[in-house]
Order: sequence, then structure tokens, then C-alpha cells
Amino acid sequence: MLITGAASGVGHLAVQLAKIHGVQRVVAAAGTAEKRAFLRDLGADEVVTYADEHWGEPVDVVLDAVGGDILPRAIAALRPGGRLIFFNSGGGTVSAFDLLAGSKTITGLTMARFASTQPELYHRHHEQLWLLHRTGQLRVAIHAEIPLSDASSAHEIIEARANQGKVILRPSMPPIRKPG
Ligand SMILES: NC(=O)c1ccc[n+]([C@@H]2O[C@H](COP(=O)([O-])OP(=O)(O)OC[C@H]3O[C@@H](n4cnc5c(N)ncnc54)[C@H](OP(=O)(O)O)[C@@H]3O)[C@@H](O)[C@H]2O)c1
Repeated sequence: MLITGAASGVGHLAVQLAKIHGVQRVVAAAGTAEKRAFLRDLGADEVVTYADEHWGEPVDVVLDAVGGDILPRAIAALRPGGRLIFFNSGGGTVSAFDLLAGSKTITGLTMARFASTQPELYHRHHEQLWLLHRTGQLRVAIHAEIPLSDASSAHEIIEARANQGKVILRPSMPPIRKPG
């Protein structure tokens, strides 16, 4: 499985969940090699950056957290018959012929729709996630906790694509804790 945006708030959980659920080979893609150690620590078997020319052997599934210019490359990374799950807000253009030639599939996913159309299944998954978290199997990496009154600092981190894990905004809290 290839996971793009793997160090992001969602991506870093997806890497861990893929390993928990027995995915043999998880390839984590990120913007810079500085995120390599973080992604390895989460359980990624391979780490690639968008600048790398090759992303290794083709994969069965892509979880695409990025879209945009990355989307065609992510489709190309699929083996014939593979499936890409598109859940990002980056958009992108798909060449239908690229799907036809390799019998590939793209599926869209939004959690909001999942929650409203299949609430029971959604809550069951929710409970499973909390259990994995409580038992220490699923770690939430908090990149920075920032008071809501300083929300612009949180935006700066996100815009710089610097976060490794979640950036948390707190309505009221003592002084900022940022990584060194
Ligand atoms: N469908 C749903 O229900 C659902 C739910 C939650 C989130 N999402 C979507 O999932 C995506 C990830 O969310 P998140 O909360 O994990 O994001 P996030 O923590 O803000 O991280 C976004 C990461 O995307 C990567 N990225 C790659 N190309 C980028 C570009 N051109 N501009 C900005 N960032 C870029 C950056 O890391 P690298 O540079 O290292 O790749 C960045 O750190 C977002 O598009 C979000 O809208 C969808």
C-alpha cells in the first residue's frame, strides 16, 4: 500500500492502521526526507519523497491524501488491477485511459458522508479506533498544541507542510508547546 501525505494528521494514522491490519508492505510518501525517521517509527516499510524518480515496486492500493499533481503518479504506482482511494481536497485530473490500460479503479471517500449514511458502521469503526488508541497500538503524534487565540501560528505550520502528525488548537491553555 502506498500512502501519500503519510506524515499528515490523517496520513500518520493511516500508516499505523495499515500495519495493524496486516498490510505487508507500506510505502509512505512525503514532501521531504526529513520526515523519514518519523514515518519509519510509525511502521512504514519504505519511505519515498515526491522528488524521487522511482517509488519502488507497484502497489495494490494507494491511499491518496494529496491529489493534485501527485494523483497521476499515484495512479501510475498501482499494479494492474489496483485501487486508489481518493480522500483529499487537492483535486486533480484523471486520464481515464490510464485506468483502462491497467484495469485500475479509483474510489472516493468522505468520512462525513460515511458517518451520515452508515452511522452504525461508522460508530463501530470509531470504537475500534479508540480501543487501538487506549491499548497503545495506535499513537496520535501531536506536532504542536497551540492556543486558539494564536491560530495563525497553526496555519503557518500547516502552510509550510512542516507538521509530522496533528496540529492541535486548544480553546484555552498554558504557554505553547512546540517541537525544538
Ligand atoms: N475525505 C475525508 O473525509 C477527509 C477527512 C479528513 C481529511 N481529509 C483530507 O485529507 C487530506 C489530509 O488531511 P490532514 O488533516 O491529514 O492534513 P495535514 O495534517 O494538514 O497535512 C497535509 C500534508 O499534505 C502534504 N502535501 C502534499 N502536497 C501538498 C500541497 N501541494 N499543499 C499542501 N500540502 C501538501 C504535506 O505533507 P508532505 O509535503 O510531507 O506530503 C502536508 O503536511 C486533506 O486534503 C484533507 O482535506 C479528508
